[in-house]
Amino acid sequence: MHQDTQLFMLSYTSIASHLMSHQELIDLLSHARVNNNQRNITGLLLYMEGSFFQVLEGERDVVDALYIKIAQDKRHHHVMKLLEEPLIDRGFANWSMGYQHVSREELAHVTGLTDFLDQEHPGFEGMHSERAETLINAFRQGRWQTRNTHQYQYVHHV
Ligand SMILES: Cc1cc2nc3c(=O)[nH]c(=O)nc-3n(C[C@H](O)[C@H](O)[C@H](O)COP(=O)(O)O)c2cc1C
Repeated sequence: MHQDTQLFMLSYTSIASHLMSHQELIDLLSHARVNNNQRNITGLLLYMEGSFFQVLEGERDVVDALYIKIAQDKRHHHVMKLLEEPLIDRGFANWSMGYQHVSREELAHVTGLTDFLDQEHPGFEGMHSERAETLINAFRQGRWQTRNTHQYQYVHHV
């Protein structure tokens, strides 16, 4: 097996530096998607209560380099790596970067992690890696795609 073609995934949470407008998020995503297409990166970005959860999938070196770049981005801080592991198949193969703005209630509903509703801190802050796995699996299985859309939803299929 060639090490350099091994698929790899990395996920992290972070806190947005300010409450981002829909337009700011769209701008961020449009740019990211062009870059990701060129680098064969796929993944998912969730935004909730001013915090991000992102999954990056691709070749290990490419994912690592992108993560280093993203972690330095001034639009967010407290970037915390949660998972970093080899992948057999991409979970978000069709998305140069899928995106959804979720509420706490929606997230609890989609993942079954109802204790999300009781947590005192906002967003994804302080999330543990096992919960990250559950979260990714819920979105990876695509259950959320069948629900009614609302105005913040902006999912792009390449
Ligand atoms: C929450 C968040 C997620 C991001 N995701 C990506 C991404 O998936 N791909 C990407 O190229 N840039 C992403 N960026 C932007 C990078 O930090 C960086 O600004 C961008 O890659 C620079 O692109 P350039 O080299 O074309 O100037 C993200 C930024 C933030 C704040």
